Order: sequence, then structure tokens, then C-alpha cells
Amino acid sequence: MAPSSFITITTIFIFILVSPILASTPPVSPDVGLILTRIKPTLGGNDTTNNLLLKTWTLSLPLCQWQGLKWIYTNKTPLQCSPISSSSSQWSNLSLSFDTSLHLFSIQLPSANLSGTLAPEINQFSYLQYLYISFNSISGSIPLTIGYSSSLSDVDLSHNLFSGSVPSSIWNLCERLVSINVHGNLLSGSIPEPGLPNATCDDLQNFDFGQNQFSGRFPGFISGFKAIRELDLSGNNLFGEIPEEIGGLNFEKLNLSYNNFSGVLPDFDFLKSKSKSKFGVESFEGNLNLCGPPLKRCDRSSTGLSSGAVAGIVISLMTGVVVFASLLIGYSQRKKKSNVDEEDEGFDEEENDEETGGGEGKLILFEGGEHLTLEDVLNATGQVMEKTNYGTIYKAKLADGGTIALRLLREGSCKDGGLWLPAVKQLGRIRHESLVPLRAFYQGKRGEKLLIYDYLPNKSLHELLHEPRPGKPVLNWARRHKIALAIAKGLAHLHSNTETPITHGNVRSRNVLVDDFFVARLTDFGLYKLMIPAVADEIIAAAKADGYKAPELQKMKHCNSRTDVYAFGILLLEILLGKKPGKTGIRDGFVDLPAMVKVAVLEETTMEVFDVDVLKGIRSPMEDGVVQALKLAMGCCAPVASVRPSMDEVVKQLEENRPRNRSALYSPAEPRSGLDTPF
Ligand SMILES: *[C@@H]1O[C@H](CO)[C@@H](O)[C@H](O)[C@H]1NC(C)=O
Ligand SMILES: *[C@@H]1O[C@H](CO)[C@@H](O)[C@H](O)[C@H]1NC(C)=O
Ligand SMILES: *[C@@H]1O[C@H](CO)[C@@H](O)[C@H](O)[C@H]1NC(C)=O
Ligand SMILES: *[C@@H]1O[C@H](CO)[C@@H](O)[C@H](O)[C@H]1NC(C)=O
Ligand SMILES: *[C@@H]1O[C@H](CO)[C@@H](O)[C@H](O)[C@H]1NC(C)=O
Ligand SMILES: *[C@@H]1O[C@H](CO)[C@@H](O)[C@H](O)[C@H]1NC(C)=O
Repeated sequence: MAPSSFITITTIFIFILVSPILASTPPVSPDVGLILTRIKPTLGGNDTTNNLLLKTWTLSLPLCQWQGLKWIYTNKTPLQCSPISSSSSQWSNLSLSFDTSLHLFSIQLPSANLSGTLAPEINQFSYLQYLYISFNSISGSIPLTIGYSSSLSDVDLSHNLFSGSVPSSIWNLCERLVSINVHGNLLSGSIPEPGLPNATCDDLQNFDFGQNQFSGRFPGFISGFKAIRELDLSGNNLFGEIPEEIGGLNFEKLNLSYNNFSGVLPDFDFLKSKSKSKFGVESFEGNLNLCGPPLKRCDRSSTGLSSGAVAGIVISLMTGVVVFASLLIGYSQRKKKSNVDEEDEGFDEEENDEETGGGEGKLILFEGGEHLTLEDVLNATGQVMEKTNYGTIYKAKLADGGTIALRLLREGSCKDGGLWLPAVKQLGRIRHESLVPLRAFYQGKRGEKLLIYDYLPNKSLHELLHEPRPGKPVLNWARRHKIALAIAKGLAHLHSNTETPITHGNVRSRNVLVDDFFVARLTDFGLYKLMIPAVADEIIAAAKADGYKAPELQKMKHCNSRTDVYAFGILLLEILLGKKPGKTGIRDGFVDLPAMVKVAVLEETTMEVFDVDVLKGIRSPMEDGVVQALKLAMGCCAPVASVRPSMDEVVKQLEENRPRNRSALYSPAEPRSGLDTPF
């Protein structure tokens, strides 16, 4: 009873108070109401009542005399307010504030002594296109709601005291944004990225985030903004490389000074005359580790830079930091897709294109990679996963949301001309459940080569075996057996089931990817076939250091299925013993797994040589195939090549000597349904 009667009385009370006002004057137009109730009180800060400009925003003055505001009718014709124009009746028309077909079109209050904040209701002006409030002392944060404005296209908040981060909602404005300027505030955090990775913000011409406290990396997404003419990121704390693609944009003004950018400056003049840099030192100064014209020369020898493209990424990897950076390969701003080759033809002399500046490189697609386009690959955003002596592997995000693994072969590591082409085509045809498929191959105009694989979010076997991590699954014998058998099948396929048998050439635990269900896949097979002999022989040097090199193998060109079998033998011992073969990194230490096994057998301590997890839950190492696997491994790494078994034989033996307790494959917590296991 009581509450409802209270409400009724209150309502009547309000009605009595308000109705005389309502009766005498019509309601103000919605935008006028917002200005008076939300914007004016907050923008002015303490001084609202004294601010000369804000004082004019009052119903006792005609709308046309409100300073700094412009209005537009619903039909998009502007309200003509000039006091001297012939239609000057509006200048003194007090009724305009009540005309509901009038909407706020722009706020232009530069240098207006404003010291307040920007109210979140700023997004409720559905016709507001221009917001210029530079050179004031407006503080607080940029309201998140600004991104929900329906018409805002020009935003100038420069030279104020805005703090906090820039809400990523501003990218909701992407499609109509022409200019965004937050220069000279106290803004921090990273520069927000557009929600869509392939955003192009087609009308955006000016992006000025200079003289703030922004941190993080260069906002690489800008390279997608083809209309951009002015970019100012100066005076922030941005670091890392400047993506080379940025050089392809047609800037009229550019300032990247006074940050912590490093690496090689992109060529900002590549479409123009090469003789004189369009932008001078003052566009780039104050970045200690940045080099290249017009700044100091890059010291190539000490940094080990490869041609422009990947240099920075590789360096960052060396620092051990996980790096996000655009893959800067080729000149991706050109949208031609015409160069995509389907498997064949005209692929031999790309390197000669350098002078013309016209070539973009070529993409050969293989089965399962048909959806890839040159543009996809060039615009992919990469993260370094691993670096080997002959190249770098990236996890790369495609604009459509897909992920691929890219292996970039080191500059100069590949054979010239088309000599590698037959090999690439052969690798591209190989399909087996235990082999990571090659989906496409790209050669850039500077000769850089990219192998494009499926990205598998898997651990390497090396990581699983040797890098302790809390929560890591226990590698019991059933799991290890499953992995070993998959590797053996993959190798057997390479050795015998392809049209032209192929040697893997680099069998090692780092080249085995294992997923959550212990499905193992070999990667990196046959890459030596693309390389010049000197680089291919570096694979041997690495194999030697890591203990996988067959004794008879001296030159990569002599590698064959028997040398693969040797490496597999070492790998199988590694799986069984849980020990990392090869150099230990401590003085001249070297773990010789076959020798360890021989000693253990002689000393009759064979059972002690196994990894403790291998024997867990095993009733009889004999009946579960553990001992047979050890013998098999020792046979594979026989010093004399001719006595080693073939991979087909290895597969057969592993299949005949399986762990009996297959349920041991799964811990109780792991799902068992829907698994594609060979058991
Ligand atoms: C505005 O008000 C705040 C507290 O409300 C006060 O600290 C500040 O000094 C005032 N500024 C001016 C210019 O009066
Ligand atoms: C701004 O404020 C200063 C003093 O705080 C005053 O002298 C000046 O007239 C004001 N200017 C405007 C445009 O309000
Ligand atoms: C004043 O503005 C109102 C609302 O737009 C309009 O209806 C009226 O005709 C105007 N008066 C004159 C004298 O222009
Ligand atoms: C510049 O960036 C590097 C990392 O790239 C960092 O180690 C260094 O501390 C930064 N320097 C400054 C002054 O921020
Ligand atoms: C870039 O900004 C810095 C201040 O951060 C300034 O000294 C320099 O003159 C500007 N360069 C250009 C080209 O405007
Ligand atoms: C951007 O990617 C989305 C899907 O992620 C797609 O629907 C859209 O067409 C793409 N736009 C452009 C311009 O490529």
C-alpha cells in the first residue's frame, strides 16, 4: 500500500510543479537540451558561468548566437546564421532552440579557456560531424562512448590535458573518420588497434597521436589506411621496428621523431625519385637505434641484417622477446593479384625484376592452399616462433582470421634461378597424416623465399621431452610409442611412398610437432634440396652438434634414407631415455645416447637407462615393447649404414611391439571421444 501511494503523490507533485512551464514553452530540441544539461556544465569546468563562450549557450539568446556551434536541419541543409545575410531573420529568432528538426553539426571551440571534461553524452548528437576543441585545458579521459557517435568524422582534441588511454571504440568510426588528432595530451597506453584486422578506414587522412605518452609498438595497422596523408607519432614511447609497408603510403607529412624506434627506416620514397629523401632528419630524429637514410647508415655487418624485410624481426628474436610485427615482404600496397601462379610457368628469373620496381614476387599454390592470395600472405601479421640457422618461422595471422606458419629462408641460402623449383613442387605434393603439408611457396622480388604451411598450435617433441613445465602431460610409454610410430610412418612415406623418394635430411625432436592427443607430425622435410650446398651443410653441422648426424654423412648432398634412419634411431633413444642428445653446453660435454645404452647393457643396468615416466605403469618392459624399441633404436644408429633397417621395417617392428595398456594413452581427465588414434 504505502509505496504505491507514495509514488502517486510524488508524481502528482512533480506534475503540478512542471506543468505550468510545459504549458507556457514547448520542449527544447533534443540536441539543445543535451548541450545545456550535459555538455555546457562539464566542458567549462569550474568556470562555466564565467566562460565568455559558454555563457552564450542559453535559451535567452537566439540559437544562432551560441558561440562555437553549427546546426543542421534533418534534411541536411545548414542553419544560416549570418547576421548580415538576407535571410537574417534567423539571427535573432528565439524559437530556433525549440525546433526539433535542428541538430548539432559541429563544435568548434579552439582556445576557448575550457577547463572541464568531455561528457560521455557526446555520442548522442546523431548529426555531429566535427568536434574541434583543441588548445584548451580539458582533462579526464576520452569517453569510450565517442566511438558510438553516428556521424563523427573529424575529431581534434589536441593540446589539452586528456589522460588515460584512447578507447579502441574510436575505430567504430573507421568508415567515416577523416581526421583524428590527439596531439599534445597526456594520453598513455598503447595505440588501440581496429577491431577488424583488415580495416582500411578509407577516408582517414590525418592520424596525429604525437606528443603523448603512448607506449608499445608502431601501429602497423596504419599500413592498411591507403588514404592517409599525415601521420604524427612523434614524442611518445613507441618502440620496435617501423614496418616497411608504411613506406608505401603516400604521406605529405610524417613525424616519427623522439620515440624509441629501432631497425631500418622504410624507404618512404620508393614510388618517387630515389635521389633525395622526401622527409628529412627532423621526421625521424630522436630514435637512438633507428638507421637508414636520411639517418645514419645501417651497420649491416654487426647487426646481421638481411635485405630490409625481415631484418628487424630477426634481431628482435635474438633479444629473446616475443615479437609481433608486420611481415614486411614485398610491396603489399599494390593490390594486384594477377601474379598468382597455379603451380607452373614463368618462375625462373624473378631476381632481375629489382630494377623495374614492378614485380611483387610470385606465389605457387599447392593442394589445400588454393584459398591463399598473394595479398593475404604479404599482409599477414607475423610472430616469430623459432629461428634456425637457415631461416625463421613465423606464426602469421591472415586478414580473414586464419593462421598459417611461414618459414622464411635466409637471404642467400637458396639456390639461384629456378634450380629449386622442381624440389619445391615435389615438396608441395607430399601429403601424409604424419607430415606437415606445404600449402604454398612464395618468392619475393628480392629473392626472399617463404614456405607456407598449416599452422599447428602444437608443441615440439623437444619441448615436451626436455622443457619441464608445470601441468605438462606425463609422457608415458603408450604416448611415446604413439609419437615414435607416427614419426616412423612419416619417414617411411618420404622414403618410399612418394613418386620420387625424398630424404628428410633434418630429423630431430625440434622438427616433430605433437598435439594435445599425442598425434605427431614431422616438419621441415626436404628443405636442404632448396639450399645452396654451403647452407645445406650447416644443417649437418647442427645435426652433428645435436648428435643426430650419421657418422658417414659429410656433405648434405650425400644424405639418404640411411642417414635419416640413423637420426631417427637417435630420436627414438631420446624418446626412450628422455635425455637430450649432443652437446650439453657445459664445457665440452656431449651426450652420446648410443654409448650410454651400450654401457648400461654391459653393466646390466639397462632398466635404469629409461626415463622414469616410460616405465610408469608398465608391468613387463618386454611384453610392452619397451625393450624391443630400445633394440630397434640401437639398430637404427648402427655405425655401419648398410646394417640399419629401412623405415618400413622400423614401422613394422614398432607396430608389432605395442604397449598393451592402451588406456594409458589418456589420463582420466582427458577426453577420449572423437580421437583419431591408430589404436
Ligand atoms: C576547480 O575545482 C577544483 C575542485 O573542485 C579545484 O581543485 C580547482 O582548483 C578549481 N580550479 C579553478 C581554476 O578554480
Ligand atoms: C580566458 O581566461 C583568462 C583568465 O583566466 C581571461 O583573461 C581570458 O579573457 C579568457 N578568455 C576567454 C576567451 O574566455
Ligand atoms: C523562427 O524559427 C521557427 C522554428 O524554426 C520558425 O518556425 C519561424 O518561422 C522562425 N521565425 C522567423 C521570423 O523566421
Ligand atoms: C627502448 O626499447 C628497448 C627495447 O626495444 C628497451 O630495452 C629500452 O629500454 C628502450 N629505451 C627507452 C629509453 O625507453
Ligand atoms: C617532429 O616533431 C618534433 C618534436 O617531437 C619536432 O622537433 C620536429 O620538428 C617535427 N618534425 C617535423 C618534420 O615536423
Ligand atoms: C575483412 O575481413 C572480414 C572477415 O574477417 C571480411 O568479411 C571482409 O570482407 C574483409 N574486408 C576486406 C576489405 O578485405
